[in-house]
Amino acid sequence: MCLQYEGRKLKTVDLVLLELEKNRGTFISGQSIATQLNLTRASVWRAVKQLREQNYLIEGSTKLGYCLSTESDQLSLQSILPFLEKYNAPKTKVIYYPTIDSTNKEAKRLSLEHAEHGTIVVADEQSHGLGRNGKSFFSPVGSGIYLSMILKPKVDASLALKVTSMASVAVCRTLKQTLNLEGKIKWVNDVYLNNLKVCGILTEGVTGFESRKVETIVVGIGINYQESESGFPKELKEVATTLFKKGEKPTISKSELIGCLVASLRELVDNLDDNSYIKEYRQSSLVIGKNVKVIQGDVAYEAIAEAIDDNGFLTVRLEDNTLKVLQSGEISIRKATNKSW
Ligand code: BTN
Repeated sequence: MCLQYEGRKLKTVDLVLLELEKNRGTFISGQSIATQLNLTRASVWRAVKQLREQNYLIEGSTKLGYCLSTESDQLSLQSILPFLEKYNAPKTKVIYYPTIDSTNKEAKRLSLEHAEHGTIVVADEQSHGLGRNGKSFFSPVGSGIYLSMILKPKVDASLALKVTSMASVAVCRTLKQTLNLEGKIKWVNDVYLNNLKVCGILTEGVTGFESRKVETIVVGIGINYQESESGFPKELKEVATTLFKKGEKPTISKSELIGCLVASLRELVDNLDDNSYIKEYRQSSLVIGKNVKVIQGDVAYEAIAEAIDDNGFLTVRLEDNTLKVLQSGEISIRKATNKSW
């Protein structure tokens, strides 16, 4: 388990929080925390006091010890680590920020400082969340999962194209496993629930200065977890959704979703030459058989989405009956008009 936190070693208060997070919802005695961490009971007590001052809900009982309430879902490095263990991704290096400009930007910065394969950057808020095509990604505090993974695959860059579709499959697997929800993938990499977008994915390559080759891939995943107090901005209201509504008590924490997502993603991206995931990608497709508008740079045209091949490329049929294979680009789904050219 990695205890790196913004590049520094954890302090007593951080370690006590980790013990409480590992036992969230159950009491653990001050003595056993002290023994575990090689501390005095008095320093455990001081750490708990400090954590309460940071708004952590920690119950205390002279007989039973301390219990971190399940009511507070404060994201932290310590809240994530136990779930990386639970879902079998325990060696993952985690860099957590309460707030940052963009986890993708930070992951790219860290990749230049030789961050290792599989490192994740997580934030509770992004001031400049990046979306595709220069758009921004709405990232209010506490309302979403904002995560980027640094990948250094030892494969040809063409295989690396698959990272994006693998990430959308990893999100669908996570939604199914933890919440029994059927996510649908809008080619190439948005995940939808009930025809509304719940997750966006942005994959970026970092080119080596000397090699001039893509040496690092950063895959950024943003999941709308719970509607913020002020709700979505006007332009997203009709098109986006969250896993949990405003005021609803979430049935799963952000940390647990992160643990499951990271494990699912690693399982896929560490086997980039394995195409078996494509079956799931096709089954979850929101676009096959639909009328779509294809947008490629300045050009836009209508077509019918026909199939997704083993590389994740989309075949569309144009009005003149010709077929076109799309490797990337944006599509939007047209209202059903039963076109069949
Ligand atoms: C899109 O829908 O256009 C892609 C959105 C990708 C958002 C995620 S949130 C985590 C990571 N950091 C960013 O700045 N962007 C990605």
